[in-house]
Amino acid sequence: MKQIKNICCIGAGYVGGPTMAVIAKNNPHITVTIVDINADRIAAWNDKDLTKLPIYEPGLADIVKETRNKNLFFSTDINKAIDQSEMIFMSVNTPTKTYGKGKGMAADLKYIELCARTIADVATTDKIVVEKSTLPVRTAEAIKSILHNTGNHINFHILSNPEFLAEGTAIKDLLNPDRVLIGGESEEAIESLAKIYESWVPKNQIIRTNLWSSELSKLTANAFLAQRISSINAISELCELTGANVNEVSKAIGMDSRIGSKFLKASVGFGGSCFQKDILNLVYIARSYHLNEVADYWEQVIIMNDHQKRRFSDRLIKTLYNTVSGKKIALLGWAFKKDTNDTRESAAIYVTDHLLSEQATVSVYDPKVSSEKMQSDLNYLNTRTEDENFNLVQTVSNPYDAVKNAHAVAIMTEWDEFITYDWEIIYKSMKKPAFIFDGRNILEKSKMEAIGFEYHAIGQ
Ligand code: UDX
Ligand code: UDX
Ligand code: ADP
Repeated sequence: MKQIKNICCIGAGYVGGPTMAVIAKNNPHITVTIVDINADRIAAWNDKDLTKLPIYEPGLADIVKETRNKNLFFSTDINKAIDQSEMIFMSVNTPTKTYGKGKGMAADLKYIELCARTIADVATTDKIVVEKSTLPVRTAEAIKSILHNTGNHINFHILSNPEFLAEGTAIKDLLNPDRVLIGGESEEAIESLAKIYESWVPKNQIIRTNLWSSELSKLTANAFLAQRISSINAISELCELTGANVNEVSKAIGMDSRIGSKFLKASVGFGGSCFQKDILNLVYIARSYHLNEVADYWEQVIIMNDHQKRRFSDRLIKTLYNTVSGKKIALLGWAFKKDTNDTRESAAIYVTDHLLSEQATVSVYDPKVSSEKMQSDLNYLNTRTEDENFNLVQTVSNPYDAVKNAHAVAIMTEWDEFITYDWEIIYKSMKKPAFIFDGRNILEKSKMEAIGFEYHAIGQ
């Protein structure tokens, strides 16, 4: 088995950053270098002020503080880091394609291919190349083909080692993973990687499969998790019309050990960089094998999620006497879930866009998301001009400013601090009747009604 002394990770993002920090922490004898083409991002990772790290994750700053410039390094010198390492993780983004064949469905593999080509050009010694990003099943075949056709007689082994961490709990998930999955063809390469994880993960939780099972397991895991949310969200709509309460239904079904209690929280719709992208990708792959029933089955998860987001804003508008034109709506939360500053595919973006199209003005507060990010998320949709977005959306750094004179408050993210606000003061500062639309079911209906609010939650 090859002893790994130097690791290179290409991609200093939400996956690469925390994963490598935890590997470095638990393997002080290994030098880990994270590289990225984005020089600003690398500079932020190297910032002395740990509050300036490019991503926010509870517990991450402490580990970076402990390991940075000891055995964890951040650099833009990609070639040097590749050359000096025995193992290379590819942790670059694989967004949904926005052009050409597979537009809106397939994963865009241009960043992955570029990585593989750079490795092929630069490597002068044998390498183990690890797929960390979520990839379509059989991507390793393409990577292999690129690496093996370089003509410089270097041995490359490809492994698939998908990351299952969730944002907001990344460090906890990495330190105590349910399992680590390694797929590959070379026993020796698999063991080299397993050894790194064995520094902190119990041996029986490190599972080995073939390459294709590993690639497909990652897509399947995300599809199953997202499917649970769409399933409970579908039931939430039925609850609203029948007098059932979705929280009670979730609890009742979750206690069946065959179902389990996690991922049964009804919400305004799931977001994040993975669920939608990976299901669209799964659907695309199924269609490419002419498995139309399989594709339709999984596509329904996305259709239901889009419906849930739309239904939330429709309900808000309908309740506000069928018009929000000229009305101020306060949004609490912009991140796709609590404890992260990531906003990719966040329901807040789509709800805001819809409200703006109905001529509302929107005031947003999020504890970790910058106003620039909020504006750029909206501008990315291309629904209206940047100036219009800027004029219609006010982003504030104090939640009490957001709600002042608002007709309604919409809770988009389940940040803990929202629960602790002084809702009496909020009520007093709002227009009457004062409405709350709780897209996360975090507030207590009876308490809010006692204050005077008209309270609407999901599935109640
Ligand atoms: C089901 C529910 O499990 C039970 O809680 C409810 O009260 C009645 O309906 P039942 O239909 O008796 O019970 O059996 P179950 O074990 O759920 O199996 C139903 C079908 O699913 C069977 O044909 C079984 O072979 C199949 N099955 C079950 C699978 O194909 N795969 C599985 O992993 C589990
Ligand atoms: C997900 C997977 O959980 C993780 O294993 C994978 O590696 C990456 O994708 P992430 O997207 O970071 O992680 O967060 P997750 O906790 O899964 O939440 C995704 C979205 O679903 C969020 O918008 C969240 O608010 C929503 N959600 C989650 C619900 O609406 N209800 C739930 O019960 C759980
Ligand atoms: P994820 O959530 O998958 O980690 P991110 O977008 O947060 O996704 O991070 C991916 C990172 O990969 C980005 O910082 C991006 O600049 C970097 N990246 C993309 N392509 C390359 C490449 N060819 N070489 C180096 N870094 C790259």
